[in-house]
Amino acid sequence: MAKVKTTFFCQNCGTQYAKWQGQCNACKEWNTIVEEVIQKPEKSDWKTPASTIKRASVPLLINEIDVSKEPRLNTFDGELNRVLGGGMVPGSLTLLGGEPGIGKSTLLLQISLKLPYKTLYVSGEESQKQIKMRAERINPENNNCYILTETKTQNIFKQIEALEPDIVIIDSIQTLHSDYIESSSGSISQIKECTTELIKFAKETAIPVLLIGHITKDGNIAGPKILEHMVDTVLQFEGDRNHVFRILRANKNRFGSTNELGIYEMQGSGLREVSNPSEILISKKDEELSGNAIAATLEGMRPLMIEVQALVSTAVYGTPQRSATGFNAKRLNMLLAVLEKRAGFRLGAKDVFLNITGGITVDDPAIDLAVVAAILSSNEDEALLANYCFAAEVGLSGEIRPVQRVEQRILEAEKLGFSTIFVSKYNKISLKNTVINIQLISKVEDLVGYLV
Ligand code: TYD
Ligand code: MG
Repeated sequence: MAKVKTTFFCQNCGTQYAKWQGQCNACKEWNTIVEEVIQKPEKSDWKTPASTIKRASVPLLINEIDVSKEPRLNTFDGELNRVLGGGMVPGSLTLLGGEPGIGKSTLLLQISLKLPYKTLYVSGEESQKQIKMRAERINPENNNCYILTETKTQNIFKQIEALEPDIVIIDSIQTLHSDYIESSSGSISQIKECTTELIKFAKETAIPVLLIGHITKDGNIAGPKILEHMVDTVLQFEGDRNHVFRILRANKNRFGSTNELGIYEMQGSGLREVSNPSEILISKKDEELSGNAIAATLEGMRPLMIEVQALVSTAVYGTPQRSATGFNAKRLNMLLAVLEKRAGFRLGAKDVFLNITGGITVDDPAIDLAVVAAILSSNEDEALLANYCFAAEVGLSGEIRPVQRVEQRILEAEKLGFSTIFVSKYNKISLKNTVINIQLISKVEDLVGYLV
């Protein structure tokens, strides 16, 4: 019997070691190195079907390379098309990552049901019956979607050869296993091997493959980092499970920009594309309330109007509480210090709670001014006019700093019927014929006058 070959892998970053050690040299994590059985494949795993002739690669002048022949496959989902950069590229491998229960399987099943092409949905997680039940909730009639419950790559390839689908979806990479490697499914060497086989398959047949990948506690795609290097596109599906909104963004895209963003709403019958998110994120109220302000933010390339709510109240306990949902708590403390020091507000003995509505987390610095406005409004108990919105960063000395793509924000605010947008005096604006009133301010103190 052949000697069993084993190596040690770090389960966190995928680094390989000849012997066990307590700490990984590469990622410095402790107790992540485990022994895995490996066996080098003796023959090619993915055999080219007779229908596709393998071409040996020859060097070509860059000007002579014809890209027009590679039409993208329409996914019939506006949001996904946008994030992918106009549809799926033939022969590409796309990885969709996200927390458990966020809706990855739902999204991809829904897309397979919508596609007019022959689709193969391979699931290693759910039975055919379970998938059918889910499909019934989502509900479109479809005669082209095949469901396969299988985890062995060799069997999957056999079925693909027989079926010849136009697109393959795999749920999930962590459940797959290849015969050439003896370690269990989900281990680093299995994930690496199965992905390599899938890449080879996709490149040789030009069939695009969509892979679902699980996410670890700290938000990385489970499995080696190299998984992300191997695939062409890494999409991240995120959102707060208690809220209905889900955001799809590209962390890496070999065929398009990573600035695009897709927004969905989880409903009883699957995910609905949200083409105008701003309208939903802003709650409609009959009366103006203190502590509310609207920020004109950008998520990727998309303008998004977001409602910020603040509550400032006298601290009941000794130490005042500061808490922020959807906003960086350190940044909140910084803005409070700026208000205290530069604008003379006594917030030191007050509890401050901040909430970004819709369960969305915002990194855009342009939200600062809306946060400050919401805090001031709650502190003074004076409402801001509901048709005001804000787009500027606040600096440490209380100065209002310019933000990128301010014109796009202004146009979005105007489209949604806001009467006034507050931006930094230092932003260069060359917009003409705008109906919206553009209020230029340079210091936080300037804001106070606008509270009703
Ligand atoms: P799922 O897609 O299985 O998530 P993942 O594959 O990322 O682990 O499930 C997502 C959740 O969505 C599940 O808890 C139930 C809910 N859901 C709906 O609200 N509406 C629907 O139509 C479907 C199919 C699921
Ligand atoms: Mg799933």
